[in-house]
Amino acid sequence: MSTFKAPKGTYDLLPPDSAKFLAVREAIAAPLRNSGYGYIETPGFENVELFARGVGESTDIVTKEMYVFETKGGDRLALRPETTAPVLRAVLEANLHKAGNLPVKVWYSGSQYRYERPQKGRYRHFSQVGAEAIGAEDPALDAELIILADQSYRALGLQNFRILLNSLGDQECRPVYRTALQDFLRGLDLDEETLRRAEINPLRVLDDKRPDVQKQLTGAPLLRDYLCDACKAYHEEVRELITAAGVVFEDDPKLVRGLDYYTRTTFEFVHDGLGSQSAVGGGGRYDGLSEMIGGPSLPSVGWALGVDRTVLALEAEGIELDIPSATSVYAVPLGEEARRILFAKVTELRKNGVAADFSYGGKGLKAAMKAANRSGARYALVLGERDLADGVVQLKDMESGEQSAIGVNEIVAELESRLG
Ligand code: HAM
Repeated sequence: MSTFKAPKGTYDLLPPDSAKFLAVREAIAAPLRNSGYGYIETPGFENVELFARGVGESTDIVTKEMYVFETKGGDRLALRPETTAPVLRAVLEANLHKAGNLPVKVWYSGSQYRYERPQKGRYRHFSQVGAEAIGAEDPALDAELIILADQSYRALGLQNFRILLNSLGDQECRPVYRTALQDFLRGLDLDEETLRRAEINPLRVLDDKRPDVQKQLTGAPLLRDYLCDACKAYHEEVRELITAAGVVFEDDPKLVRGLDYYTRTTFEFVHDGLGSQSAVGGGGRYDGLSEMIGGPSLPSVGWALGVDRTVLALEAEGIELDIPSATSVYAVPLGEEARRILFAKVTELRKNGVAADFSYGGKGLKAAMKAANRSGARYALVLGERDLADGVVQLKDMESGEQSAIGVNEIVAELESRLG
């Protein structure tokens, strides 16, 4: 061990487990790529103001969880705690929304940073795959995103997840509800901090996890009963479209999210095998975000799924992903000349697209075959001195144990045909 450890709240992805993470990212990305979403990548840090204005000045993310720093040049930056605001910033900066093809549909994959209290499933560095559809107000777009997230989880084999759905209304109806909720909250027996929150961001109080608070909230007014006709009709259509697609969801009139930019459709994917950190993904519509960061009106919708928690969900359900072995052929040279010849063959195999590895470090036959086994390779190539003299190499099928001699010059063609 070195003097150093991974920082608190972080962990390293190491092989072979890291293959699971790649497979999860791929499983989430595949349906998006298949549905018109283009890949986007933005920097790991942004101007701190982007998040303050975008995610919301009074949110936990902005007030407590951001990694903020000042550069030597005097810029105030923050490691990204989320990627929706950065993606919208990038789209506006590049004028993608003016290219005449709305919505702009993009997906991303990458690290997020939040200074949270670490526990199982909650880290300070974690990874998301996300999708954003920018510049269109259409219930089918909200439905598309929910259906695609559901599809990726199904493709992974997950079953014990639920989709919670709500509408947070718009600029017309939410303020009316906000006032009603505030009036209600002021009459409760709440601690000072919660009362302060009720004044700044009353909807967040609904999300308070403490049982004594939840008990007092039983009779709280629900946004559902305050939605304007346009929001109601919009929400109804989203529900109909995902129902028609066979996606099962639960209406959760108390669902509020930890970010302030949401309007209308909001949803969360929760997994029942994860304990307290049960949200595996979340998202919704953010019709006002563009204007909040100085852009034009661009109604948009998106989600992000947590890769770390999705992997934990797979483990909770005992799902072993079918990850094919990375190596197909493992070459074992015995002696100097064999080493040169087999190394050249391995290089040739790789050029031809055959995944091949090599026994380095002058290992003897026994240790080298052990390594071949561990690599998961289907075939081993063993080249000894007698073989050299005969111009052949021993090709061993690691599954059946069968072994046969083939000509050194036939290696590539033979393995290509056997591996199909
Ligand atoms: P979020 O709900 O903050 O939404 O994060 C989405 C997912 O990221 C969570 O459901 C969870 O799986 C994962 N996650 C969040 N914090 C942590 C953590 N500390 N450790 C491990 N996993 C975590 C957003 O970030 C929005 N930008 C989603 C969105 C996209 N809305 C619209 N477009």
